[in-house]
Amino acid sequence: MSNDLRIGFLGAGLIATYHSKSLRRSGVETELGVVRAGVYDPDRERAEAFAAAAGHRVCDSEDDVLDSCDAVYICTWTSEHPRQVAKAVERGLAIFCEKPLAITTAAAEEMAAQVAAAGLTNQVGLVLRRSLAYNWAKHLIDDPAAGRVMTVVFRDDQFIPIQGHYASTWRADKALVGAGTLLEHSIHDVDMLRFLVGDIARVSANTANFHGHDGIEDVANATIAFADGAIGTLTSVWHDNLARPSLRRVEVFCERRHIVIEGDDWYGPVSWTDSDGATGSLEGEALEAVALPLLDGSMNPDGEFVRAVVEGRPAHPDFATAVEAHRIVDAMYRSAAAGGELVHLSR
Ligand SMILES: NC(=O)c1ccc[n+]([C@@H]2O[C@H](COP(=O)([O-])OP(=O)(O)OC[C@H]3O[C@@H](n4cnc5c(N)ncnc54)[C@H](O)[C@@H]3O)[C@@H](O)[C@H]2O)c1
Repeated sequence: MSNDLRIGFLGAGLIATYHSKSLRRSGVETELGVVRAGVYDPDRERAEAFAAAAGHRVCDSEDDVLDSCDAVYICTWTSEHPRQVAKAVERGLAIFCEKPLAITTAAAEEMAAQVAAAGLTNQVGLVLRRSLAYNWAKHLIDDPAAGRVMTVVFRDDQFIPIQGHYASTWRADKALVGAGTLLEHSIHDVDMLRFLVGDIARVSANTANFHGHDGIEDVANATIAFADGAIGTLTSVWHDNLARPSLRRVEVFCERRHIVIEGDDWYGPVSWTDSDGATGSLEGEALEAVALPLLDGSMNPDGEFVRAVVEGRPAHPDFATAVEAHRIVDAMYRSAAAGGELVHLSR
């Protein structure tokens, strides 16, 4: 009998396709032995197209998928994640779940507790943790020559993803997506703010809703106080400018270094200027050459997930990391609901 790792998919949409292609690119399928097992999506045509492209078998139910795999990708819309994770935990499967983990922080906490109690390898789709640009920026920030971080300006904008190549109407349905740009998209940014600067102690936020979809804010601004004394701002917007699919610009002011991440989320450029007048800018292959060695493993989140599962060790970023981001996003929503009142994060 083969010892190959059987991988199943719940959901066969945009992000499932991304992970499937990324698994192929990672090379772990042949290196470590992976069998493409079942895929289920209530949209049968999607499941069939996905299966045909990647070599999966179309299943009639999520239970069929879960009963015939060792590791499962949960790539459904957000409201489905907690229930499907609980079923995967019952079966002792390794789990890759997309972000956000859930619509509520309480549910995300429960999911993290379940996988931890069962001792299952678990990973979440906070993929920027493996970005060359963000890892190089962190290296520049952590360099003692830079001094302490004083402030960060984090801007993230994209066209509202119910159009264009996303075309996902569920992102306008509060019951399925939970909320708008802050939870659905900028949970990545909150995670990167923690990654780059550190723990967050207090937030104050405002949100607005220009498109008018119930409960789906399309602008969020937050003022952030980090535990180490740095402060910063996050601006997240879903507009109608189809020329801007997903663009981030991050400026970090340290005492003696200014750092900018822009352009491509993975390949930069990352530019910096020091108080002695020294400047630098790296992108593409030149960035890869210096930043790849900083990563624990490769840039490929899917290859690293499979490697961790096969080796029976923890993967990262894990559910516990995602819960920290959920708690901050939650604090921002509570602040906005109270007219921008200061909200403290308890430790
Ligand atoms: N990490 C990232 O950068 C990133 C990017 C995009 C989406 N996401 C997340 O991935 C998830 C899916 O987003 P998407 O863009 O792929 O959406 P999508 O609409 O392209 O695909 C979601 C699919 O889930 C299917 N589905 C719904 N309920 C299901 C169920 N019970 N069982 C099986 N399939 C079911 C839908 O029919 C749909 O085909 C969301 O949580 C989203 O926030 C993460």
